[in-house]
Order: sequence, then C-alpha cells, then structure tokens
Amino acid sequence: MEPARLNVREALENRRACRSFLGSPLPPGLLDDFVDRARRTPSAGNAQGVEFLVLEGSEQTAAYWEVTLPERDRDVFPWPGLLLAPALVVIYADADRYLERYSEPDKSAAGLGGSDEDWPIPYWFIDAAFAALALQLLVVGEDLGCCFFGLFGRERAVADRFGAPERQRAIGVVAIGYPAPEDQRASASTGRGRRDLDEVLHRGRWSIPDVSPPEDHR
Ligand SMILES: Cc1cc2nc3c(=O)[nH]c(=O)nc-3n(C[C@H](O)[C@H](O)[C@H](O)COP(=O)(O)O)c2cc1C
Repeated sequence: MEPARLNVREALENRRACRSFLGSPLPPGLLDDFVDRARRTPSAGNAQGVEFLVLEGSEQTAAYWEVTLPERDRDVFPWPGLLLAPALVVIYADADRYLERYSEPDKSAAGLGGSDEDWPIPYWFIDAAFAALALQLLVVGEDLGCCFFGLFGRERAVADRFGAPERQRAIGVVAIGYPAPEDQRASASTGRGRRDLDEVLHRGRWSIPDVSPPEDHR
C-alpha cells in the first residue's frame, strides 16, 4: 500500500466523528489492510484478545441495521446518513484469552487467571479500545470518515445475527466510508468544545484549577 495520506499528528487533528456517508464502496482489500494494522496495538501479556467482525457492502451492513435499528425507529433517527456507510467493523474483546494467558507460569503470580472479576481494570476492553482507535486513525489517515458508536442494548442481537460466541464482548462499532459533502457530523456531544489543556494535564502532581473565592469572601 501507498503511505498514508496523513501522518498520525494530522490524523489526530482532523479526526471528528462522521455520521453521514456516501454509499460508495471502499477499495477492495482496504479493510483487511486496516484490520491487519489495527490488530498490532499493544495488549496485556500480548494476549491479543481483540477480534473484528467486518461487515462490508450493503447486504451485510443492512443486516446490522436490521437488528439494531428497527424500521419503525428510522424516521426519528438523527443520522440517516450513517446507515449508508459501506463498512461497519464491530470490535470484540475476548476475556478468556486474558484468563488463559494470565494462568501461564510467567503471569500466574498476578492472580488474574481465575475470573473476570479478579481484574481491577478489565484489560480486554482497554486493548479493544486501543485497536478501535488505531482503526479510526488509519481510516482518517486515508482521508476517509469514521464514527465509533456503541451497541447499547443490541449486543446480544448482533451476536445472534452474526454468530459471535457468547463470551465475546462487542465494545463498539466503527462505521467507515467516504464522508457525504453535507456531512452531518454533529451530535449534541460534538458542541461541547474541548477541555483546556491545563485542566487535564497534571505536571508533576495532580493540580486542581484555582477555584478559590474572591478576596472579600474569604
Ligand atoms: C465510547 C464511545 C461511544 C460513543 N458512542 C456514540 C454513539 O452511540 N453515537 C454517536 O453518534 N457517537 C458516539 N460516539 C462518538 C462521540 O459522540 C464523539 O466522539 C464525541 O462527541 C466527540 O466528537 P468527535 O469524535 O467529533 O471529536 C462515541 C464515542 C465513544 C468514544
């Protein structure tokens, strides 16, 4: 493949959730290439418990929307252009790979090989999120659009429709395609603006923005 059109810094700067797509298909093989790269993100113990359900083309994507967005709800769905995305990638996290990996001799001292509940932070979700972000940056790097969104109460329905095993957890979906010119990017969340760097960056120790009351109220 040609080098990406945008580098990582540029992709991070340009990325905004795209919720309206042209229906045009992606170049053949592009999704496989993206997934092959996105799966190289770090994983705890190198457990690699992230899997990708790739739905490409209107027949496969329509099957996703059939089980997640019933016809009767479509009139009021705020982003009809999202349904035109030529590809949907559902990202799965497999806890069992982590339990197995952390039962191996070099990891057993951590005491994490028994059950999901032993994990203060369930790393399978972290690793799946890393892969989901990598996928989005790869997409944006090719000047395509994408949106990560949740499955909410439809995770089981999607698993049943596409045959995902019981223990595989779908952390979200990345819709991918060419952005529509009259791109409906915005959601109510989009307008929130970005928090100040000083509010989120704690240099050397946790600093809380100065909210002390004015002099005459002390
Ligand atoms: C965990 C997660 C869940 C999200 N779920 C949805 C969703 O269900 N529907 C949606 O339209 N956008 C969803 N988004 C996209 C966010 O609304 C969006 O990323 C956020 O408003 C910031 O806007 P930006 O991505 O354009 O910078 C989700 C994003 C994340 C990270």
